[in-house]
Amino acid sequence: MKDSIRHLIQQALTRLTEQGVLPEGLTPAIQVENTRDKTHGDFASNIAMMLAKPAGLKPRELAEKLIAALPADAAVSKVEIAGPGFLNFFQNSDALAERLEAALADAQLGVRKSGAAQRVVVDLSSPNLAKEMHVGHLRSTIIGDAVARVLEFLGDTVIRQNHVGDWGTQFGMLLAYLEENPAAAESELADLEQFYRVAKKRFDDSAEFADRARALVVKLQAGDADCLRLWQRFNEVSLSHCQAVYDRLGVKLSPADVRGESAYNSDLPAIVSELQAKGLLSESEGAQCVFMDEFKNAEGNPLPVIVQKAGGGYLYATTDLAAMRYRSQVLKADRALYFVDQRQALHFQMVFEVARRAGFVHEGMDLEHMGFGTMNGADGRPFKTRDGGTVKLIDLLDEAEQRAYALVKGKNPELDEAELRQIARAVGIGAVKYADLSKHRTSDYSFNFEQMLSFEGNTAPYLLYAYTRVASVFRKLGKGVSEIGGKIDLQAEQELALAAKLAQFAEVLNSVADKGVPHILCSYLYELAGLFSSFYENCPILSAEDETVQQSRLRLAALTGRTLQQGLELLGLTTLERM
Ligand code: ARG
Repeated sequence: MKDSIRHLIQQALTRLTEQGVLPEGLTPAIQVENTRDKTHGDFASNIAMMLAKPAGLKPRELAEKLIAALPADAAVSKVEIAGPGFLNFFQNSDALAERLEAALADAQLGVRKSGAAQRVVVDLSSPNLAKEMHVGHLRSTIIGDAVARVLEFLGDTVIRQNHVGDWGTQFGMLLAYLEENPAAAESELADLEQFYRVAKKRFDDSAEFADRARALVVKLQAGDADCLRLWQRFNEVSLSHCQAVYDRLGVKLSPADVRGESAYNSDLPAIVSELQAKGLLSESEGAQCVFMDEFKNAEGNPLPVIVQKAGGGYLYATTDLAAMRYRSQVLKADRALYFVDQRQALHFQMVFEVARRAGFVHEGMDLEHMGFGTMNGADGRPFKTRDGGTVKLIDLLDEAEQRAYALVKGKNPELDEAELRQIARAVGIGAVKYADLSKHRTSDYSFNFEQMLSFEGNTAPYLLYAYTRVASVFRKLGKGVSEIGGKIDLQAEQELALAAKLAQFAEVLNSVADKGVPHILCSYLYELAGLFSSFYENCPILSAEDETVQQSRLRLAALTGRTLQQGLELLGLTTLERM
């Protein structure tokens, strides 16, 4: 709808330019917003205020001329001038009802991508395999998964890339330990945290062990068969732990999506020599570096992207350059989105720029760092266990399910054990994911079980419950929406408000896809659930006065249910028919 209003305004602008009211050559960005207060219409534009000056008119005068020049459109019932010169558009309720009918008849709920379909690489999760996955990778996994799902729903081809850290110096330490006691190591591998800890302790305590570890990294990177075998074994175990977390979370990631740092190993010398050939490299204290004028540290000294250390070793940045080249040349991506901690923002700004200058990515390719803030504990401090250790994801998810179980059992003691478990899983895991998704991704966020499991406010339990209310209407009726005739007819204020919100689904999903911000979808679903509530309280459905009214309301309820369900699924939540 916003797009079609923008189009109407564009046509009016063209007319006014032809009439000489507006000067030639204006190409304003036409802004159309959803209004908050529906008594002022459904959409508003400030275009008359933006163009008053070049037109040499007062904003309200220009607004009048614009209204006169607007082509008629069945979807718009009237346009009014408000305040200093806003144009307020009222949508025609019959046209709105027709749009909702079309959505109801469509598996895609009337949602289309606003631009052309693209090939999009989504770089997500990407834990370091030396340790068990911890909370730091939760946000990348969950937010990346939600955005990937939305892109796919809109018709993009999504290529998930789990850029795991499987090739660092820490592997020398692990290899040295594995080599030292292969039998013990096999059993200790089951607990990676423990394994990492003992290896690290050996490394810190024994200079001889540390030397061996360093030598093993060199051997590994030189392709020694024994080292490679142990390293592979280690990665297998580590990745299977990650996969268990993904499955438990219901995240769409599989072993096929893993393309770790080591995959780019053989490309690294070429990256350096190509940078050399392009004249982008300089040597600094023996290291190979790229310096760019726009990157300086706080003291104003040039900041390098180091691609090769003095000893010959390659770095995180070198691998990222190789990965970008692969994503452009082999995966043929139009866009690559990196869901990585905000603290790596500078790293990405710099490597993106190097990749462009070196021509590692094709010109039309968008590179976007979708940074996110730190996950803190309920006290606002970095998330730690009581004894100061890092929190294991699996433990966190266990606790979420246990708490949800107690909660649901408290509310519905009569439910049988199997159903209780199933509900607890959907609510517990859903709550953890939703709490993360509902905050703007760039802000830090506090992990708080009480808040995320509350049935009030913008939470998973609230939304999952809202969906069950819709489901219960149809359960009581004993029929599905396909068996209900009639059509949507919008009369009551609550019906109109709910309908207007339903019609915004496509626009919301398009913004999530453009900006990589799932919290917009969360707020939308929360508002939708609230509007459904007031509709439900004020407009009787099953006891409606006559059949056509009942049919209309059932159809609105059905579309609300499907929108909630689809929205929650795109966020990676499992809906329940009752809870
Ligand atoms: N393994 C890295 C870390 O834990 C994240 C990798 C993100 N992706 C990338 N292409 N650099 O910090």
